[in-house]
Amino acid sequence: PNHHHQYDSRSTQGQNPLTSQSLNTRRELYERDFPVYKQPVEVGCFSLDSERRFFNDSRQMRYYVEPDRNPYFDLRDGYKDRFIKRDDSVKEKLDHILRWIVANRSKLNSRAATSSSFAFDVDFVTWRGHLTKLLTTPYETREGWLLAVTRFRGTLYMSELETEAARRERENRTERHEEMMYWGYKFEQYTCADNIHSLPDSGGVVNTNEAFCTVVQTRLADHRLLFSGEVDCRDKDPGAPAPPTCYMELKTSAEICTPKQRSNFHRFKLLKWWAQSFLPGVPRVVAGFRDHEGVVVSVETFHISKISHLIKNEYNCWKPTVCMNFCCDFLSFVKRVATEENPSVVYLFSWEPHRDVTYSIHRDSQYSFLPQWYIEEMSS
Ligand code: A3P
Ligand code: MG
Ligand code: MG
Repeated sequence: PNHHHQYDSRSTQGQNPLTSQSLNTRRELYERDFPVYKQPVEVGCFSLDSERRFFNDSRQMRYYVEPDRNPYFDLRDGYKDRFIKRDDSVKEKLDHILRWIVANRSKLNSRAATSSSFAFDVDFVTWRGHLTKLLTTPYETREGWLLAVTRFRGTLYMSELETEAARRERENRTERHEEMMYWGYKFEQYTCADNIHSLPDSGGVVNTNEAFCTVVQTRLADHRLLFSGEVDCRDKDPGAPAPPTCYMELKTSAEICTPKQRSNFHRFKLLKWWAQSFLPGVPRVVAGFRDHEGVVVSVETFHISKISHLIKNEYNCWKPTVCMNFCCDFLSFVKRVATEENPSVVYLFSWEPHRDVTYSIHRDSQYSFLPQWYIEEMSS
């Protein structure tokens, strides 16, 4: 008889989900019915200007101007002399979202009926990008993640920490990689105008400090979520539907020339694109396909709702239901683990490919991320 499983309650089958200290990420465990995911509702937005200053408005919103189907956009133009790059060694954590919450307290559904202090009706506050990473975890084989969670006034705040591997990569990027990271922003400049009646200005400066972010509320099974994500642009037709349905995501990708390249595009790129836009309810992705010289040679629109059909012919491909069920179970795991209401306690969840998700607990550590101004503001 095999006694091993009795001691191995932390992993795989037979685990007691209520006591387990880890969470398995194998995709087969998440192949069940698609969980309830409510249509995301935009509850607000904010902008970050060319110096990364916060504004509680939509001043950085941009408008999509449909390019020629076969344009000739040189994405390398301006890299050397018309590019201001955001300092990505500065870790902003949840600060911009917290500023938005403080500025919009009165708009949020409050459940603090008996006290003067403010608590609101959400279980999780986080960035969309952190949730995207959770959605793709069952299929990720290269990059792990670290998520710091703090429970404060009934809400779980979830903020990413840079892994050692990610820091090394960031500090050792090749010049080619640095330039390619610019290309995506340059494509945005070729296709976006600052207002409804103007045209894109490809001769201007690309400044990656600038951002327009939507704040949405939704629910995944029994998890009420409030998250923010950057939005590239919106449909400029005044008759377009309300946000987030009028929003559009812009992407660049290598031109597809072979069946193998098409298959890889479906398996890896479309997974990331789907996860990122599905979460906030952005229905369309406009893709610019570039050649080896960084020139966009074709533009194609992908509808998020059609992506699962597009990939159906790929053998052993990713499934939206696995992504959503894993995210849902991870959030349940977090609720179970992060029980102490204390802004200086951080539950640090960590994951490496081919491993389970595990956690550790830290008091008054370097990992604490809720700023004093936020704690004071929400306690008054
Ligand atoms: P592409 O994805 O078109 O290459 P987003 O698409 O999320 O709006 O991001 C805009 C651009 O930022 C990307 O455009 C890419 O150039 C850069 N970028 C975003 N995330 C990145 C990452 N994790 N690593 C490198 N570059 C990234
Ligand atoms: Mg963007
Ligand atoms: Mg984009």
